[in-house]
Amino acid sequence: MTTANKKLSSARLTQPTNAFVEEFTASVQFDQRMYAQDIQGSVAHATMLAKVDVLTNEERDQIIAGLNTIKTEIENDQFEWSIAQEDVHMNIEARLIALIGEVGKKLHTGRSRNDQVATDVRLYLRDMITPIRSELKRLQIALLDVAEREAETILPGFTHLQTAQPVTFGHHMMAWYEMLRRDTERLADCEKRVNSLPLGAAALAGTTFPIDRELTAELLGFDRICLNSLDAVSDRDFAIEFNSFASLLMMHLSRFSEELIIWASAQFDFVDLGDAFCTGSSIMPQKKNPDVPELIRGKTSRVYGNMFNLFTLMKNQPLAYNKDNQEDKEPLFDTIDTLLGSLRVYADMMGAITVKPDNMRNAALRGYATATDLADYLVRKDVPFRDAHEVVGLSVAYGIKQNKDLAELSLEELQQFSAHISEDVFDVLTLEGSVAARDHLGGTAPKQVKAAIKQARSQQQ
Ligand code: ARG
Repeated sequence: MTTANKKLSSARLTQPTNAFVEEFTASVQFDQRMYAQDIQGSVAHATMLAKVDVLTNEERDQIIAGLNTIKTEIENDQFEWSIAQEDVHMNIEARLIALIGEVGKKLHTGRSRNDQVATDVRLYLRDMITPIRSELKRLQIALLDVAEREAETILPGFTHLQTAQPVTFGHHMMAWYEMLRRDTERLADCEKRVNSLPLGAAALAGTTFPIDRELTAELLGFDRICLNSLDAVSDRDFAIEFNSFASLLMMHLSRFSEELIIWASAQFDFVDLGDAFCTGSSIMPQKKNPDVPELIRGKTSRVYGNMFNLFTLMKNQPLAYNKDNQEDKEPLFDTIDTLLGSLRVYADMMGAITVKPDNMRNAALRGYATATDLADYLVRKDVPFRDAHEVVGLSVAYGIKQNKDLAELSLEELQQFSAHISEDVFDVLTLEGSVAARDHLGGTAPKQVKAAIKQARSQQQ
């Protein structure tokens, strides 16, 4: 990157920019990643200008050919980015003029960098939503695969991280899936507002040229047009909305991570994360650390930070464009990169996870997980729920003293606490009986979990 001070952009300014100010105010270091979108926007703009006779067809063709050459130069690493040219837009325009001469100077007719940058950011974000959507889908499918495989596997369900009632592992995976389903909906909704065209707003008030914004929108694949020029150049709601979607999604991944970290500990030992997603310790040879989920939990805070960054960036800006807006890119790009990387690694990790059904089962047996089932059993025998609750409490206290689970107590032992208990109680005290009994929409019974998976798969088509 060159830094020679050769400011061409303003006849109004006679003194060269202070060398450090030039570097301080430049954005090319980070906005060059939008080069393809900048060129795409310029090609559409030149095409539209020719259609409304502001450019001749020949001028348009020269400009488009020049822009295509520049794209090739950038992609082959033959383009010299310059700090003196401030940003991606001026770097490309200066190169266009150097390549095709005077005609290149006509490209900027009827537009401003203000509507240009707003367009580029939207195009870039739209392009990045495509891989984000497909990684999200890949993770959802990985969850459905694990859920299907483990639809009948039983583990303790927790409230307050204390054993509560048995659930199936498939049901637990489908809870994660539901969170991601809502994320997918939010992304689709956010995308509607990303996909709106600011170009044509020019600096802030529109332009005196007879532009055709519908045509530009059509050429760029925008579904809508930003309807007020002042709003068009200054609006960054779409970036905040995207970051909000990303924050929620990262919060979900962070919650999943927390569970995986707990489950992978020697104390729980419910899952094996696969060596490819863990690292060892430099000093403790026995360690297998769940680095990937830990890092995702950590990266969630970056995405939250970026969201707060963007909100704060906007809160004091008067209409219309202010240089503050240049600060929108780094947080947005960081969120995109973090989210995409996190989804990718998560989809791979869930594809490689193995579960340990015996350990889960033993944990469920140890925790009196079927106590509620005993209470429900008594209620079905006409014992009022509060009395049933007390009988179960006494039975559990007795079991703890005897160091036995409820299913291990004899019928006589159980009958000490209620005469309503008979031989059929053992059907409900088993883990399988407990989960199978929760057989309604949204319940943990394997039958319901399989139906939920089937339904989810049909929506994935
Ligand atoms: N680099 C600037 C940005 O990122 C482009 C727009 C500059 N416009 C201006 N009037 N200085 O926002």
